[in-house]
Amino acid sequence: MTIILGIETSCDETGVGIVALDADGGVRLLADEVASSVEQHARFGGVVPEVASRAHLEAMVPTMRRAFDAAGLAMSDVDAITVTCGPGLAGALLVGVSAAKAYALSLGVPLYGANHLAGHIAAVTLEYGPLPQPCMALLVSGGHSQLLRVDDLATSITEIGSTIDDAAGEAYDKVARVLDLPYPGGPPIDAAARRGNPRAIAFPRGLTGPRDARHDFSFSGLKTAVARWVEAHEPEPVPIDDVAASFQESVADVLTMKAVRACQDEGIATLVVSGGVAANSRLKELAAERCAAAGIELRVPRPRLCTDNGAMMAALGAHLVAAGVKPSSLDLSANPALPV
Ligand code: KG4
Ligand code: ZN
Repeated sequence: MTIILGIETSCDETGVGIVALDADGGVRLLADEVASSVEQHARFGGVVPEVASRAHLEAMVPTMRRAFDAAGLAMSDVDAITVTCGPGLAGALLVGVSAAKAYALSLGVPLYGANHLAGHIAAVTLEYGPLPQPCMALLVSGGHSQLLRVDDLATSITEIGSTIDDAAGEAYDKVARVLDLPYPGGPPIDAAARRGNPRAIAFPRGLTGPRDARHDFSFSGLKTAVARWVEAHEPEPVPIDDVAASFQESVADVLTMKAVRACQDEGIATLVVSGGVAANSRLKELAAERCAAAGIELRVPRPRLCTDNGAMMAALGAHLVAAGVKPSSLDLSANPALPV
């Protein structure tokens, strides 16, 4: 049995996860502790990098302690460490990378600097077991909206589409501001949308025309359309539930249509959906419906594993160790723009 520690600090969650890689290749989740600074960013309506870095510094050691307590393990039981080294906020990433290097050096264990996006995909293995490869991953969060072709989670991930402007979660957060709903906007919009009529307002579907880039996304036109609609109807009270439902329908429609199309174009039979927006109720419902109709197997981890966490990095570490990937050196550094 190999014990792998995962550390994640790319944005506003300090995540520490521990998994066991068994001799038969099975991966068991032993601990998943997250400390979030989201409340400190709420009044700014988005993540403030300096505040996030400081919060990581304060949370790292206590979160680490909680994870080892939950797993019933000691630090000296760790056999390998995986840390997010990008993409993400530079100062935030540096806290995790520095901590991981210090632990790896003092414990004398291998260190793997790994990609945050690959981590989101690895999260799915904690719930569904080994990943069928090739597979397609739709990664939708506050910072990302991407379609990734995964031929090998350890060595070969290819971006086939991404947002040309806002990320899907960013659109949720901005629309929430327009509707006077709290940050982060995903959960309150999702809740309001369930009470509203998704056909009340015909909001645009970005980049879905015949001449548009096939696998790319665009959400800034949709966000602007919502703001214009609200402005045009002032001073009437905003029918928040209907606006939220119509906005959410556009996002879910575009994401699922493009993800299924990407699977069909690439001849891929498994779709993974991960990232914070994968917690969205309508997205999951429509993805299940459309994947079933297209004969595609859908894998969506539970919301806790979709948002940023250390367990996904530990799961990715288990995959890297099992695949015999060479560890990083101790001069590993953070790369805010790390490609997949
Ligand atoms: O993956 P994540 O925790 O952090 C990164 O951005 O990396 O994702 C956070 C994003 C936020 O924009 C939040 O509004 C969105 O995920 N989100 C949701 C839902 N829950 C969280 N978006 C739509 N529906 C939800 N239920
Ligand atoms: Zn993320």
